[in-house]
Amino acid sequence: MIRIGMLTSGGDCQALNATMRGVAKTLYNLDPETQIFGFEEGYRGLMYGDYRLMKPSDFSGILTVGGTILGSSRQPFKQMRVPGENGFDKVEGMKATYRNLKLDCLVILGGNGTQKTANLLSEEGLNVVSLPKTIDNDIYGTDMTFGFQSAVDIATQAIDCIHTTAASHGRVFIVELMGHKVGWLTLHAGIAGGADIILLPEIPYDLGSVIQAIKRRDKAGKRFSILAVAEGAISREDAALSKKEYQKKLAASRYPSVSYELGDQIRIALNKDVRIVVPGHTQRGGSPDPYDRVISTRLGSAAARMILNGEFGCMAALRGGQVVAVPLSEVASRLKTVDPMSDIISQARDLGISFGDEL
Ligand code: F6P
Repeated sequence: MIRIGMLTSGGDCQALNATMRGVAKTLYNLDPETQIFGFEEGYRGLMYGDYRLMKPSDFSGILTVGGTILGSSRQPFKQMRVPGENGFDKVEGMKATYRNLKLDCLVILGGNGTQKTANLLSEEGLNVVSLPKTIDNDIYGTDMTFGFQSAVDIATQAIDCIHTTAASHGRVFIVELMGHKVGWLTLHAGIAGGADIILLPEIPYDLGSVIQAIKRRDKAGKRFSILAVAEGAISREDAALSKKEYQKKLAASRYPSVSYELGDQIRIALNKDVRIVVPGHTQRGGSPDPYDRVISTRLGSAAARMILNGEFGCMAALRGGQVVAVPLSEVASRLKTVDPMSDIISQARDLGISFGDEL
């Protein structure tokens, strides 16, 4: 009989439940005596011993359900060694819960920060198997994270809807998509939605170049332009600032995000009607799409096998279509960013998409 602790941490996404179902069904199937303890709201539940013993039926009927049946919360990695209220030691709290419940392994679903803490717990001697969740697809060591494809579907639909109204009114539209540090979601949705200009955090943009790209479309007789802009897109001038200077600029800015500033700049330069659309958290909501249901089920099932094989301190990852175990030490503290020189970018450029950096 094995005893597992399970938690979902950080921002949610569509296939968390599907992944937990994959882990649980596989474990119950291979070892019907398995006991799974679900921690409430991520690491918070593990720290404070807030958990419930799950039943196999808890994992039924959740394949298509978004969100997480365990709840989630953000517990920043940077704060893990900082004492909580009344000097509470969070790491020792998590270790104590693990020991008190006599767990054999923790199954941790989460994004980058979550993986760092999973690695910390592994270094502290706990058995950990993790799974790569995020709509941002920025976890190092895996080709794909679950949640990403479902978010691409939603973001693409948003751009599709904008296409018809942009065409009717001959307007410039900026669709701002999630991704503060990386632009995978904006890049994929931008290409899938036929955006004319795609701005990513990895490729600082030049306002003049963006204006030229819109003018080129005007000259070609196109009545509208659509920009897919990542929330972390940054101009060349801002990218040249120090982190501190940039934070200061943001704090003083009257714009809620980069898109509104850029929208004003385009409006002034071209005397055009510009509209901003921010799908926001809709990108994390709703059901996982079929692709995510498949990879989350596979990753979950493989994670269960890793537990049974004693392969701890690893994240179940997708590489070249196979599920592999990647050491958490390799995953933690690294980010998978879009390579500006990659072929997906050059193919997009070749067909005329602007990344706002052309001369
Ligand atoms: O990590 C996923 C993500 O969706 C980012 O793309 C986004 O910037 C962030 O979470 C927003 O999350 P929240 O509003 O939950 O803090």
